[in-house]
Amino acid sequence: MRIILFSGKGGVGKTTLSAATGYRLSEMGYRTLVVSLDPAHSLSDAFDLSEEERISAKGLPVKIKENLWIQEIDVQEEIDRYWGDVYRFLEILFNTTGLDEIVAEELAILPGMEEVTSLLYVNKYYREKEFDVLILDLPPTGESLRFVSMPTVLKWYMKKIFRTERLVMRVARPVVGRISDVPLPDEAYFKALENFYEKLKGVDEVLVDPDVTSVRIVTNPEKMVVRESQRAFMYFNLFGVNVDAVIINRVIPEDMEDCQYLRDWIGIQRRYIEEIRSFFSPVPVFEVPLMKGEVFGEERLKDLAKVIYGERDPAEVIFREKPYEFVKDEEGYTLIIRAPFVTKETVSLLKSEEEIVVRVGNFKSHILLPRKLRRLEPERAKVEDGYIKIRLR
Ligand SMILES: Nc1ncnc2c1ncn2[C@@H]1O[C@H](COP(=O)(O)OP(=O)(O)O)[C@@H](O)[C@H]1O
Ligand SMILES: [Mg+2]
Repeated sequence: MRIILFSGKGGVGKTTLSAATGYRLSEMGYRTLVVSLDPAHSLSDAFDLSEEERISAKGLPVKIKENLWIQEIDVQEEIDRYWGDVYRFLEILFNTTGLDEIVAEELAILPGMEEVTSLLYVNKYYREKEFDVLILDLPPTGESLRFVSMPTVLKWYMKKIFRTERLVMRVARPVVGRISDVPLPDEAYFKALENFYEKLKGVDEVLVDPDVTSVRIVTNPEKMVVRESQRAFMYFNLFGVNVDAVIINRVIPEDMEDCQYLRDWIGIQRRYIEEIRSFFSPVPVFEVPLMKGEVFGEERLKDLAKVIYGERDPAEVIFREKPYEFVKDEEGYTLIIRAPFVTKETVSLLKSEEEIVVRVGNFKSHILLPRKLRRLEPERAKVEDGYIKIRLR
C-alpha cells in the first residue's frame, strides 16, 4: 500500500491537491481513500458532496465513484467515543518525551489527539490492505509535524515508563488505597492504554518506510509560506519521513503578463519559485498554476491533476533519498548531506544565524539548523563517498 501525505500551511491547497490526486489515482485503477481531519469539512466541499450525504456518512468512508472513497474524521467525536480516558492520560504522558534530543527541543509542544487519531486510522488501513493508496490531507504544518513525531514519543513511553509504572501501581495501590484519596489509575485503564498502543504498533515503521509513505509539501510562492515549508522539510528529514515532491500551488501563469496589475506579482512569484527550487533541490518541484476560479468538483479536479502529474503515476515514489541528516557521536554533531558527484574543490560553506548554506558550483542548498545546533559553527568539512560531512562545534 502507498500512503501519501499532503502537508503545508493552511490555505495553500492541500485539500484541493489531495482531492485531485485521489481522482487521478482512482481513474488509474487504484482503490483510493482520501482522509481528512479538517473540522470544516473542506474535503466534502472539494468533492462537491451535499450536506445530507456528508451527515449520513457519520465519519465513515463514503464512496464517491468507482475506486474512490473519502472519509472525514470527526476527531472530537472519536475521542469522546473511544479515547476519553486514554486521552486524559496522554495529556500527562506527553509532558515526558522520548524524542531524539534535537527534535525534542524543537517540538516543545504537546502532540494532540488529532494526530493520534489519524495515526490509528493510518495503521488500521495499512493493516487491512483494503485500499491501494491512502491519501491523508493533513492539518496545517505544525500539527503535521506532531503527527510524524507521535509514534516515537509513544514508543519510548511504553517501553521506558509504562512497564515500571504499572508494576509500581500493583504494589502501591493496596497500600495507598487504604490511607488516602489519591486517585490512581486502575487496571482497566492500563488495559485500555495497552489496547490503544497495540493499535498503533508498527505505524512508526510505516511512516519512515520510503516505499510506503511519501510526504508532498504544498507551498505557495510567497515569503511566509516558503519559510514554513523549509522548516517542515527539515523536520520531515529529521524524523526520517521521505519527502518525495514539493508542489508550488497557485502560480500566476506567465501569459497574464499583459495585465499590469499581475506583472509585478509574476515577478515576485518567480523570485520565490527560484528560492524554493534551491531550498529543496534535489527533491522534484512541481508548479501548479492558479486556476480560473475555485477548484472543486470532478471535472476541475481532474484537470488540475493533469496539470500536476502529466502522464506520471501519482502513486509512484517520485523521489527517495534522504537529502541530509544530523548525526550525533561522542564528539558532537555532524551534518551529512547527500551530494553525489561533488568534489571538495567545488564546495563552499556559509553559516548564518540559523542556517548552513552549502554551495556546490552554482547549486546552493539551504539547511535550516535545529535550534539546539544554531550556536555551533562548522569546524571542518569533507567530501566522502558522495556525501558532504560537516562537523559542527
Ligand atoms: N491552483 C489553484 N487555483 C485556484 N484556486 C485554488 C488552487 N488551489 C486551491 N485553490 C482554492 O484555494 C482555496 C484553499 O484551498 P484548500 O485546498 O482548501 O487549501 P488547504 O486545504 O491547504 O487549506 C480553495 O477555495 C481552493 O478551491
Ligand atoms: Mg484543507
